[in-house]
Amino acid sequence: APAGDLAGRRIVVTAGGTREPLDPVRFLGNRSSGRQGVAIADAARARGAEVTLIAANLEVDEPAGCDVRHVSSAEELRAAVRAAAPGADVVVMAAAVADYRPAAVSEQKLKKDDSGDGLTLELVRNPDILAELGHEPHEGTVLVGFAAETEPDDERLLEVARAKREAKGCDLLVVNRVGWSEGFGTPDNAVMMIGASGEVVTRVNGDKLSVAHGILDMVV
Ligand code: C5P
Repeated sequence: APAGDLAGRRIVVTAGGTREPLDPVRFLGNRSSGRQGVAIADAARARGAEVTLIAANLEVDEPAGCDVRHVSSAEELRAAVRAAAPGADVVVMAAAVADYRPAAVSEQKLKKDDSGDGLTLELVRNPDILAELGHEPHEGTVLVGFAAETEPDDERLLEVARAKREAKGCDLLVVNRVGWSEGFGTPDNAVMMIGASGEVVTRVNGDKLSVAHGILDMVV
């Protein structure tokens, strides 16, 4: 990758997966390891950028040389992004943010004696952080979103991705197929990138660092 092509630029990257608390010991979470987001932070730093990494429950080591802010829930991630995004040249939303959180967080551990044989959880929608940023004026900030889809068919995957890019208002959407054995937690990745007019701008595959550089090439 071209060394130094992000020198003097400030980039904010979210990585990992949020945990939505249920009670003091339990949460609803997802399988995102944070590997792809951390690779993007690493690659951006190697290209000269000043990097803020908003880290949600990473299962991988933190990259060196980044300003790391630790968060856990979607609400915390939102506050950290909103604090760091103004004036950034690039915001990459690679974290898997929970779409829903428990409607109430119990002060005490939930007990099975109180619920018997079945337990129904009530969930409420989390704010969509990327869509918020995308629909606010963000001139001078390249906004990159991710879509992890389980859609097996390529044509359908693209349709879903185009609709998502539009709904989120981001400048670039990185689409990858995930499943029980693809995407989350794995060392390699294969992605498509969709630009603002809905066209596929590029496809990259390889290890997550190569994919990270491919994404940054498009951003540049
Ligand atoms: O809607 P979906 O979860 O598929 O969108 C994924 C993209 O939107 C990712 O870039 C993710 O970081 C972001 N997102 C968000 N806030 C949410 C849900 C997703 O910023 N509540």
